[in-house]
Amino acid sequence: MTAGDPYRLVILSSGTGTNLQNLIDYAARSNDRIRVSAVFSDQRSRSLARARAAEVPAHHLSAKDFPDRAAYDAALGDAVAACRPDLIVLSGFMRILGEAFVARFADRIINIHPSLLPRFTGLHTHRRVLAAGDEFHGATVHFVTEDLDAGPGIIQCRMAVLQDDDEASLQARVHEVEYMIFPRAVELCATGLVKFSDGEALFDGMPMHGPVLVKHER
Ligand code: GRF
Repeated sequence: MTAGDPYRLVILSSGTGTNLQNLIDYAARSNDRIRVSAVFSDQRSRSLARARAAEVPAHHLSAKDFPDRAAYDAALGDAVAACRPDLIVLSGFMRILGEAFVARFADRIINIHPSLLPRFTGLHTHRRVLAAGDEFHGATVHFVTEDLDAGPGIIQCRMAVLQDDDEASLQARVHEVEYMIFPRAVELCATGLVKFSDGEALFDGMPMHGPVLVKHER
């Protein structure tokens, strides 16, 4: 990227795409400082429809069309690379990307996860938070490494679990939290304030001890 060029996001999203929509809207308000260059999905998802509605190039890449994970990842990697991304954003992308993909785009893949990582990696986080009786829940944006949901955190938002919360209400409130922190994480990367280098997240050149911590009061 040279000065004055937009910061190019390529977003990978499998499902409903509400975070994708939030990022598209954010980029649209940025006066072309941040641009969503393309959206890829492994499903014929709502995400693709959202991208097309916003006139963002949208591509469906089905795993069924490839013999194995390595072939899928290689094809996805080629297609993503052709979009010249500054940042690859996993926004509800429900496939695990292999080592080769992660290495190819080292230091410029981020993911949003609906939990206070390192607590509750993987799926069904809201259900698991309730089962564990946790007082707090939230969401984390982190750099992607080859270990699932384990890369260094960029920003994390905590919120209280309420007495009458169920899975649906938690999911809705975590989404609200996600809409707050995901654009901010993109912004931290776009401005270069936060960087991922040699396995370490840096804040203005200084090693981070963890994600930027914020809280949601509602
Ligand atoms: C979000 O909760 C995100 O944290 C998780 O997948 C969900 C995607 O939701 N990785 P949406 O498709 O953005 O509505």
